[in-house]
Amino acid sequence: EQDALVVFTPSGRRGRFPVGTPLLQAARALGVDIDSVCGGRGLCGRCQVTVCEGEFSKHGISSRADSLSPVAENEQAYIRRRGELKPGRRLSCSSQLQGNCVIDVPPESQVHRQIVRKRAEVFDIELDPMIRLYYVEVQQPDMHLPTSDLRRLKEALDFEWRLENLWSDIRVVQEIQAALRTGDWKVTAAIYDDQRIIAVWPGFQSRIYGMAVDVGSTTIAAHLCNLQSGEVVASAGRMNPQIRYGEDLMSRVSYVMMNPGGNEDMTREVRQAINDLALDLATEAGIALTEIIEATFVGNPIMHHLLLGVNPIELGGAPFALATGDSVSGLQATELDLFIHPNARVYVLPCIAGHVGADTAAIILSETPYLTEELTLLVDVGTNAEIVLGNRERVLACSSPTGPAFEGAQISCGQRAANGAIERVRIDPDTLEPRFKVIGSDLWSNEPGFDAVVQKTGVTGICGSGIIEVMAELYLAGIITQDGIIDGSLAARSERIVADGRTWSYVLDQSDDRTLSITQNDVRAIQLAKAALYAGIRLLMDKLGVDSVERIGLAGAFGSHIDVKYAMVLGMIPDCPLENVKSVGNAASTGARIALLNKKARLEIEDQVQQVEKIETAVEPRFQEHFINAMAIPHKTDGFPHLRG
Ligand code: FES
Repeated sequence: EQDALVVFTPSGRRGRFPVGTPLLQAARALGVDIDSVCGGRGLCGRCQVTVCEGEFSKHGISSRADSLSPVAENEQAYIRRRGELKPGRRLSCSSQLQGNCVIDVPPESQVHRQIVRKRAEVFDIELDPMIRLYYVEVQQPDMHLPTSDLRRLKEALDFEWRLENLWSDIRVVQEIQAALRTGDWKVTAAIYDDQRIIAVWPGFQSRIYGMAVDVGSTTIAAHLCNLQSGEVVASAGRMNPQIRYGEDLMSRVSYVMMNPGGNEDMTREVRQAINDLALDLATEAGIALTEIIEATFVGNPIMHHLLLGVNPIELGGAPFALATGDSVSGLQATELDLFIHPNARVYVLPCIAGHVGADTAAIILSETPYLTEELTLLVDVGTNAEIVLGNRERVLACSSPTGPAFEGAQISCGQRAANGAIERVRIDPDTLEPRFKVIGSDLWSNEPGFDAVVQKTGVTGICGSGIIEVMAELYLAGIITQDGIIDGSLAARSERIVADGRTWSYVLDQSDDRTLSITQNDVRAIQLAKAALYAGIRLLMDKLGVDSVERIGLAGAFGSHIDVKYAMVLGMIPDCPLENVKSVGNAASTGARIALLNKKARLEIEDQVQQVEKIETAVEPRFQEHFINAMAIPHKTDGFPHLRG
């Protein structure tokens, strides 16, 4: 009998096998993990490999396409159902060794090694989901061997996949008999954590999905991921309907205080919004809601409690006790009134403290400061700023009450980011004349064609990133002083500076029916917000005994839109080399996605959250002192050497 030498790349494992050995079997014998859902029946296509052609001196053997048996019936059937394989690809379960060959196992066929790129391409997520699919052929019942259908399913799973001691959901028991008979004794089972059968489908089922949801107080954002490939197949966002109970978190808690039972309304509404989002995602991806079999959630403590149906009233005042900060694992979707697969499992990331929620835990999971050498500052600005500072030695977290000024609230002409909102501003230090850009247009306001472009929306107000820029530019042009006073003496030089009662305003834009100005109160509101943010950061720096940080990540929508230079000019963030200050995108959402796709990541963040040192700004005497010093622009005492030049 002839032998053939086979080398698998990238592992480099090699061995000799009799001609005719199925490739998948050779791989298993050499400990090369090749994925499979269907158990080698040519149904799932997960076991694809590439026959490397040409000379391979490194491996000392040559390889040809015909080193494997001709395309088998199974493969042809697979191609008929699912379309052509990529060039050079074969199903390893259906091809046998014919001669020496080098076989490449592509990343998507490697068990637990599939790497999913984050959208921002910052790092990779390893795919190792909590729920996996297994296809089995189950023995038919026999009068002489009386065993139940469930027992025989478990035996098949044990025999083919070595899944022992499985439990099953009651709904699986309710559905198993129909599934087995419809599927002609072939079924696909979804197994949660290698322990529990949570669903069975007749025949071969290759699609399951999970959704990762970031429940923000303003918007709820969700991604739908294919749990077999990790790929994001749809993304959607909706306003949080709780907004009508109050814009910010504390007003929602006050609503509950004034209206007993109001929390139940808010729970119902947020769950309904999540159901609507799930439907948006399923429609966009062209799948059934019942194909969504898992969901992970992140959110600040109040959103977290309301989602879980917990009254958030204790979070409305000191000592801000959480009902639970632990992760919530293995909940069934129906327990949260979610209309995805009824046995779908829900995982909610842990909260860090009464003010610092599962959204911050998700940011930590996404940015992993606990693995870095360099001292990393992570800031998520919303109504509260959540702040994380640390490296592999220690990680600290706190929340600072910035209020909603950075989001455009409390600013006379502030608005949410939308077409027509000013997002970029420059002020000429000689003439004090402004120019700006609005969302939806690439032109500056002083460029020809600007009026035509914005004709439809008009210039409607100023959004968060625009507010930061205008304040910084006003300061750089000398229109506001270090103490944040609009300098009225400049009124003699520019018509832009106008009296406004006993203070002064700067007119940014004027049309027949409205004037957009920055008032003294606006400047004050931003000063208070940025002082609170900086003081929180400074407090954590004190605790660590450091004067500067090495890397800053700005999370959330705000972080992705502001120009970091201006954030530093205003003294919102401490000094740091500008090239090390980056937007980290919606890191909370990414964290939810990591937890969805990788079960070890759940343990990792649960462990990290235990170790994070929680700082309560309200009880720290130095917070007030830092706050007062940070009212000045950029700061009363701290320097910003990296801004020079
Ligand atoms: Fe499923 Fe080969 S293992 S197609």
